[in-house]
Amino acid sequence: MKILITGGAGFIGSHTVVELIEAGHTPIIIDNFSNSEKWIIDRIEKITGQKPTVYEGDCADKKFIADVFQKEKNIDGVIHFAALKAVGESMEKPLEYYRNNLDSTMTILEEITRHKIGNFVFSSSATVYGDPKENPIPEIAPRQPATNPYGNTKSIIEDIIRDLASADKNFSALSLRYFNPIGAHSSGLIGELPKGTPNNLVPYLTQTAAGKRKELTIFGDDYPTPDGTGVRDFIHVVDLARAHIAALDYLKKQPKPFYDIFNIGTGKGTSVKEIIETFEKINRVKVPYKIGPRRPGDIAACWADPSKINKIIGWRAEKTIADALKDAWKWEKNIS
Ligand code: UD1
Repeated sequence: MKILITGGAGFIGSHTVVELIEAGHTPIIIDNFSNSEKWIIDRIEKITGQKPTVYEGDCADKKFIADVFQKEKNIDGVIHFAALKAVGESMEKPLEYYRNNLDSTMTILEEITRHKIGNFVFSSSATVYGDPKENPIPEIAPRQPATNPYGNTKSIIEDIIRDLASADKNFSALSLRYFNPIGAHSSGLIGELPKGTPNNLVPYLTQTAAGKRKELTIFGDDYPTPDGTGVRDFIHVVDLARAHIAALDYLKKQPKPFYDIFNIGTGKGTSVKEIIETFEKINRVKVPYKIGPRRPGDIAACWADPSKINKIIGWRAEKTIADALKDAWKWEKNIS
């Protein structure tokens, strides 16, 4: 299939492009490189032996997007990753987040409907569940009001997609609610490239192990969890990337219009302390850390019930936390 990938040079996007090529599909990348690097495209070629077509530009640029759809005839589906994604920044610049994330999605959706493409896969997030009443979280758990504009854009876009699927008979879509993607490609050639100080646990941890940061701070060890630290469903980015290919194959077979939502997680919760311990053990490297106060807005625990996608689509996460932490370290050493 010929698949358009917005944000295809980003962390999850680049891994998905690799998996698409390896599954025999033809990815077409759209990226404005605002939070990614052009050399990632060369790395994709190095891994797969194929250089994907790339259009550099912004998904909110109507003319640019219309031209891409015009030029690339016979697009079979679209995976929409392109978005601003920093929680803290979204609280400082809400308008920028709403304008960017909503405009880009609307522009892409307008072209999809104009060309009667359907097969739209949206990068949603477990953030839409807020602080869950219980774990693991099934898709039928209620969404909760987002605590930040970034999270709110995910929720609003899910609603836009649902409404479009009930109005447009040619449209079909899936929202994939990602839990916590970590790791890197096992080649060590592509991975996460945080700008400035990383907000997320694993990039901060690998940078500390590499000596770029003095120490890691565990944000709170007094949560009601087995060891007091936060618990999350960390999923290897390659498993997550493969979920998109399985999702597209499934979506293609559904009668239009169609819309559904799937959790993408392992089904297992792992604590911050367990992540540090596993990292040290698998990579034989010490990570200096201290216990600090809780980070505002954090929740105690959140992990997925992935049984819906396991049963209906037949995808499940195969890699371990140790695999992800080994790959993340290999990648960090390559870029340090
Ligand atoms: C965050 C976002 C989520 C987004 C996801 C992307 C929030 C509230 N949620 O999830 O919307 O989709 O990133 O991956 O920001 N931790 C430390 N020390 C650190 C960094 C993190 O102890 O230096 C802890 C956190 O307190 C948390 C766990 O590690 O318990 C995971 O944090 P993080 O990687 O930032 O992800 P989330 O906050 O779960």
